[in-house]
Amino acid sequence: MTPSKVTLRRLRELAAEGTPIVMVTAYDFASGRVAERAGVDIVLVGDSGAQVVLGHPDTTSVTLDEMLMLAKAVRRAVRTPLLVCDLPFGSTEVSDEQAVTTSVRFVHEAGAEAVKIEGASPARLSRLRAIVDAGIPVVGHVGLTPQTATALGGLRAQGRTPDDAIRVAGDALAVQDAGAFALVIEAVPSDVVSEIRRALRIPVIGIGAGTADGQVLVQHDLLGITEGRAPVFVKRYATIGDAMVEGVETYAREGREGAFPAPENEYPTSAEVAAAVREFLGTQSRRK
Ligand code: KIV
Repeated sequence: MTPSKVTLRRLRELAAEGTPIVMVTAYDFASGRVAERAGVDIVLVGDSGAQVVLGHPDTTSVTLDEMLMLAKAVRRAVRTPLLVCDLPFGSTEVSDEQAVTTSVRFVHEAGAEAVKIEGASPARLSRLRAIVDAGIPVVGHVGLTPQTATALGGLRAQGRTPDDAIRVAGDALAVQDAGAFALVIEAVPSDVVSEIRRALRIPVIGIGAGTADGQVLVQHDLLGITEGRAPVFVKRYATIGDAMVEGVETYAREGREGAFPAPENEYPTSAEVAAAVREFLGTQSRRK
């Protein structure tokens, strides 16, 4: 049976019935297909793609054009899950109008069904309201917001003191009131998140935030493709990166040893064809 398209209404139903929402990132056709085939509810074209697939040092380095290119590739792969695209740093900062124009580009050019915007400053909330007013569904993102990590003191957990937890809670309420249909909370202690969830009507998707209405992880982190130490909230479900390196190492070794290509990797033909070519080339060399 073909799974039915995930809609905002379906997400609200899942949250209401206590069925966890599954969200994962994707950045190209292949990772989009993995997400589609795995049956997740939401695919996020995250600006984490800056580091994960484009090799930038941080999320602020990725451009709108780069994000659009990634999003278009994911769109070609994803049918059933809801497709959400991150609004990258620099594509909304100038004005509400810029934020709406950027969001419309994601919808028009990449088929985004919603966008995600980080933060809850007065300017961010104004952008969020403007995008929602334009008819584009928005996911908010509070707690650790990597685009402004420098101002937050680095990539570190948020809401760990009473004052900071109150700040995160205020941000969450403000994002909901500005019109977001769901909220990502990143790197916040789970007991703080439970309190916040009690006060919210919209589904909360956690990353490093304990139990919530759903979870999101970077696909390349959970598959073990990214190198180095992962944040504590990442669970590695596979070690695909090692398997990929092993595969290419074996290919390199067999190529160098002459074990690849083997007869089964070649197109079959008859001795007659090779003889015809040999004769033709012989004639050519005699002409010189
Ligand atoms: O860019 C991203 O991958 C994200 C998720 C981690 C929530 O924003």
